[in-house]
Amino acid sequence: MPDAHDDSRSRALTPPPASKLDAEGQRLRRLYPHYGVKQARAKRRVPRFAYDYAANGVGDGSPNVAHNRSTMDAVRILPRYGLDVSRIDTRVTLFGQEYSMPVGVSPMGNPGVVWPGTGDILARAAQKARIPYIGSTVANESIEHFGRVAPDVYWFQLYPAPANGHEHSLDMVRRAEAAGAKALVVTLDVPCRPKRVGDVANGLEVPFRWRARTVRDIALSPAWAIETLRRGRPAFETLRAYVPEGASIFDIAAFGQQALGQAMDWDWIARMRDAWPRALVVKGILHPDDAERAVQVGCDGILVSNHGGRQFDAAPSAIEMLPAIAERVAGRARILMDGSIRSGLDILRALACGAEFTFAARAFLWSVAAIGEAGGDHAADSFLEELCSSMGQAGVTTIAQARQAPLWPSR
Ligand SMILES: Cc1cc2nc3c(=O)[nH]c(=O)nc-3n(C[C@H](O)[C@H](O)[C@H](O)COP(=O)(O)O)c2cc1C
Repeated sequence: MPDAHDDSRSRALTPPPASKLDAEGQRLRRLYPHYGVKQARAKRRVPRFAYDYAANGVGDGSPNVAHNRSTMDAVRILPRYGLDVSRIDTRVTLFGQEYSMPVGVSPMGNPGVVWPGTGDILARAAQKARIPYIGSTVANESIEHFGRVAPDVYWFQLYPAPANGHEHSLDMVRRAEAAGAKALVVTLDVPCRPKRVGDVANGLEVPFRWRARTVRDIALSPAWAIETLRRGRPAFETLRAYVPEGASIFDIAAFGQQALGQAMDWDWIARMRDAWPRALVVKGILHPDDAERAVQVGCDGILVSNHGGRQFDAAPSAIEMLPAIAERVAGRARILMDGSIRSGLDILRALACGAEFTFAARAFLWSVAAIGEAGGDHAADSFLEELCSSMGQAGVTTIAQARQAPLWPSR
């Protein structure tokens, strides 16, 4: 299972990637040097109901989001010095496809409410950076759109629609195959709808309720309001095919609410295995026994994830569960993870804990919400720069070596 390239083929990354940025890239690098700056600017630019939708986890406050972060911060890597790290190669081959580095964009439902056009912006940035882009069933753009703008890097994430013998689920899978999606990602960790109290309080539910506060928040976010007018209000374009012609965005949202989810048992995953000819990934796995089950039904990849702390407050973080899952299924399925990947250092941490590839949602989202169109490229540039410097600091020059970087205390 080749997942990295030996040094003889490696792309020399000296001078480091930051100096290869164009003038605009250099400017953004100075203005937005890290995740926190982008999140803070996004918070100022985006109406509160939309910011809360993405920032919050489940339940009362966001303890699981904080837990994801604190467990990521707790991962220490013991550096090795006196080695030649002048040539660093971050490329990875996954499911037969070469990517420029081991990070991709996690699926996000309705990111257009946070910043208009986010899905389109990120899919194009992913194509340019040669990293995977996972388009959600409830993205604002359609399967076909993503297949067009990100033909080499698009993966499709499915929330199944169980009615009528899964007629719509199977249709979406067929559409993803026709659109050239490289992998099908089935999200398992939404067996029922979580209660996200922030969204309840903000009226961000189906049916959407306008509140005086909503109107005030929009008035306080002029850049967002202008951009929303320019791009149009976000809808769920993949689902449009299943509602009567001329249905409003609220009708489509209501259809999604009623039709999607709650039928994801292992028999059903096995059916997807039969229906889908390319790589099949299950997302939302935390228990090593579930990882084992996924391997048994023929999954090619396991995306270890707690949904960014948005589903179950008592769940451990993905970074905590990675070592046990890697120990159980490494070599039989590719091990992917997401959850609080905010920097290149976090990518290295996850690799050292057993991941072969990582994904991030909010790091990409805040970058777009803070910066606009250029935010997608900036997020990818930042990940690459930070990953290279973190790898050099740890004394590793390939992704295969990064996965062997010693943790401290040793486990
Ligand atoms: C705004 C938002 C929408 C999301 N929508 C989906 C979705 O439609 N499908 C899915 O599988 N996961 C969804 N997720 C979870 C992400 O794919 C991912 O697992 C998680 O956010 C990773 O954590 P991070 O945001 O800290 O990087 C969503 C996350 C966010 C923040």
